[in-house]
Parts: sequence; structure tokens; C-alpha cells
Amino acid sequence: MKEQAEEGLTDLHSHLVPGVDDGARTVDESLEGLGRMVDAGYRVLATTPHFDGSLTLDPEKFGRRMEEMDEGWSVLVEAAAARYPDLSLFRGHEVMLDVPAPDLSDSRLHLADGAWVLVEWPRLQVPPGTSRVLERLIDTGVRPLIAHPERYRGIDRELAIVERWISLGAALQVNLGSLAGRYGEGARTLAFRLLRRGWVSCMGSDFHGRPHLDLYVDEARALLTEVDGVDQWRLLTSTNPGRVLGGESPLPVAELSPAGGFWNRIKGFFGTQYP
Ligand SMILES: [Fe+2]
Repeated sequence: MKEQAEEGLTDLHSHLVPGVDDGARTVDESLEGLGRMVDAGYRVLATTPHFDGSLTLDPEKFGRRMEEMDEGWSVLVEAAAARYPDLSLFRGHEVMLDVPAPDLSDSRLHLADGAWVLVEWPRLQVPPGTSRVLERLIDTGVRPLIAHPERYRGIDRELAIVERWISLGAALQVNLGSLAGRYGEGARTLAFRLLRRGWVSCMGSDFHGRPHLDLYVDEARALLTEVDGVDQWRLLTSTNPGRVLGGESPLPVAELSPAGGFWNRIKGFFGTQYP
């Protein structure tokens, strides 16, 4: 783990632009949040306020919302540069795919102005037609990084859809907190199933910058270490997020194949089945 600490962690999902979404409310809260991420080992991060994809189809609303984002972002950049000069801070958004064909051509919506865009489905449900939505985006040169797939209701019965997203060229980002149980048994179970299949490219904090929230870095690292996933941890939290920021494809992450004891213990604890 020493090597990892020296390498530094990279995060592609957080809500630390002050006052623009349900994340950090003030610049002080943003700085405190950034400080906690630095303390946890992060050296590079893209912060990703919520942005409704439907707004991209209404130029006036889009302009107003993006103006808010621009203002918040410039406040954050200035404050962060003064307080954490060694932290590399990039911009992105978590774009909700609430319409079938959003226009994601504005590079401010992309992670570090590159090819990848962090996206999510609305209301934590997978709507019909997701593959078509992704195909359209990919046709326009966007590379979708799908936020927290493990959190969608009922998706454990629809893993073929997730496999299809990946085959189209999308990548998956699982939340660190999901492994630690922050979002409940279903999300935790599914996060491990996706990792076990080697389908996850990145792990993200989805940190909302509030003082009472945990980052779950230590818990997630300990769990992956316990199942012989140290190499996967490095890929998921450093190498691949870095590659995505640079517009590259993430490297394959080997399937987690721990000894049965771990899975049986989890299964016994949660009363769930692991394929
Ligand atoms: Fe988020």
C-alpha cells in the first residue's frame, strides 16, 4: 500500500463546487471537503456537479445553469489553488440522461474537457432504451462513464443490460461507499458482483463535501486488499481514473476471484447469493 500512497489516488466523481447542487454549500465547505480528500490520499480529482441532460436542449436554460456552474467553478479553483497548490483539480459534471438525446457537445460537461462524460440515469432506475441513448452519445464522440451502476433499483436482475453498455464502449464507475454498505445491502452486493466479473473500470467517492459524510476510502481499500485485489485497487482508484481524465481507455481490471471464505462470510451476513 506504500506504493499506492506514493502514487496518489485520482477521483472522477464528487460534488465540491460550492452552492450549485446538493454537495458543498459554501466555499469553506468545499475547501474542507478537498482537504479531507487530500488527507485520504487524493492528488488528482475532477469534481462533478449535477447537470440535467434535458437542459442541453434548451439554450436559455442551459446558458443560465452553466453560468452558475462557471461562477462556482472559478471561486473553487481560486480558493483551492491557494489552499492546496499540489492538488490537480479538474472540472466535469454528472450529467443525468433524462432525455433520449441530450447534446453533450459543450466540453465543460466533459471530464477535464476530454472525451469522457460522467453520466447517470434518472431517479436511480434504468429506463427503457438505455443502449440506444448510449449509442447516440458514442456516435457523437462522447465516451460515457456510468456513475454508480450498483445503485439502480432492480438492476441486479438486468446484468445483461450492463454488459451491453460495456460492449458499446461505456465504462462503469462504482462508488467506494457502496462496498462499505453506505447505500444498503443491494448496492453492496451488486458492487461486489460487478467487481467479481471484472466489469468495473473506476471507483469514485461521489463525495458531497458535507462534514458528516464519510469518504469510505479506507474501508473500500481494506475490503479489496482482503480479497487479494491490491492490483485492482490501484487500477480502479489511480491508473484508470487518470487514463479517463486523459481521454484514454481504461485498462482491463482483472476479475476479483477471492477465496470462498470471504464471499461466504458476506453471503451469510447479508443473506444474499453470489453468482
Ligand atoms: Fe454524484
